[in-house]
Amino acid sequence: IPWLLPDNQNLDIIVYKTIGSTNQEAKKIALEGAKKITVIIAEEQTRGRGRMGRSFYSPPKSGIYLSLVLRPNVHASEAVLVTTGASVGVCRAIQKVTGIEPQIKWVNDIYVNGRKIVGILTEAVTNFENGLVEFIIIGIGINFKRPEDDFPKDLEEIAGALFDKKPDTLTRNRLAAEIINEVLNICGDLNKRGFLEEYKSHSMVLGKKIKVCKNNQWQSATAIDIDNDGGLIVRNESGKIETLNSGEISIRRM
Ligand code: BTN
Repeated sequence: IPWLLPDNQNLDIIVYKTIGSTNQEAKKIALEGAKKITVIIAEEQTRGRGRMGRSFYSPPKSGIYLSLVLRPNVHASEAVLVTTGASVGVCRAIQKVTGIEPQIKWVNDIYVNGRKIVGILTEAVTNFENGLVEFIIIGIGINFKRPEDDFPKDLEEIAGALFDKKPDTLTRNRLAAEIINEVLNICGDLNKRGFLEEYKSHSMVLGKKIKVCKNNQWQSATAIDIDNDGGLIVRNESGKIETLNSGEISIRRM
């Protein structure tokens, strides 16, 4: 994939204390025609956005909220591969600096000890005339430590954090830097798909019974495999094999 820059060394990092959403700002920068790989990172988001129109709880001091603006020359249909690659990059970074081995719930929620600690929202800026993705925004939100006031009630059951309290030596900056490096490394060589086996090894759904919500309807299925483009291959209750391609699909473990 030809990237905007031949090497990843030269990138812009823009830091905010407070921002609505780093993805929103990243999109603005993309639409202005970003000439470099750009990273927006914020201490706090007041309107953090999640997948499927949800919000992402982004209090100060406890999380890492960042968005990368990239320019891959991929077709819109391959965008799910970017998302898959990004989640492997985040897992590698977490493993490297903490030793903790995270799990991935398709497509790109990252879990530790059965709780979601990372959410990723990938958005594409597409040229409608030729179907090519002009920019890709990869938004990554990490619950680094448990928030001061704990999680709001509605997140209590699902949300977790990498650490209960601030670790002695590891900083959020260090983890953020590793994440940026690992994600760029993988995305720079996306077409080789070398990370897919690693993705599968982190998967918490493969071989399991899951519930799939498509067009507002929940159905039971078994997750069988991940295809070459990061799609989830499932067998539904009537035995039919189907490939799910992220988008507006939710899954739940059973
Ligand atoms: C999800 O789990 O639904 C995805 C959450 C993605 C959150 C990150 S935080 C940084 C970036 N900016 C946003 O507004 N959202 C993403």
